[in-house]
Amino acid sequence: MRIAIGADHAGFQLKEALLKGVLAAHEVLDLGTHSPREPTDYPRYAFAVAEAVAKGKAEYGILICGTGIGMSMAASQVPGIRAANCVNVYMARMARAHNDANVLCLGGRVIGVGLAEEIVRVFLSTPFEGGRHARRLQLIFQGPHRRG
Ligand code: RB5
Repeated sequence: MRIAIGADHAGFQLKEALLKGVLAAHEVLDLGTHSPREPTDYPRYAFAVAEAVAKGKAEYGILICGTGIGMSMAASQVPGIRAANCVNVYMARMARAHNDANVLCLGGRVIGVGLAEEIVRVFLSTPFEGGRHARRLQLIFQGPHRRG
């Protein structure tokens, strides 16, 4: 399973920790940022990761900024992307089981490495339940506000 990952300066440290830890066994496409020193604009990483997932270059994406909020807002603008900002393990499980999320967003200034690793583990291993949840997703993505 290939995973695309991206972070801004506020998410850099957590990105590096995940790469060395829970993601070490995975094939990972690291789309930056590659240094915590200069402030960077999170939308550019959100779009790079979201596009990699939407084009099938990665099965899942992980995006990290200070709160996870900006990343989830930006990634969700890309057609085919269902981005979920998760602050606990329950949200990570539901993001996959009920929402079929394909991009996980995390807040580097909100959660610690241990919790983030568990969130990633659960997110990557939980299947989508389909059924009524698929119908609800259709209501979002085929509904009156669909893009394209
Ligand atoms: C950067 O200071 C911060 O605004 C960004 O990392 C993110 O939290 C935005 O949602």
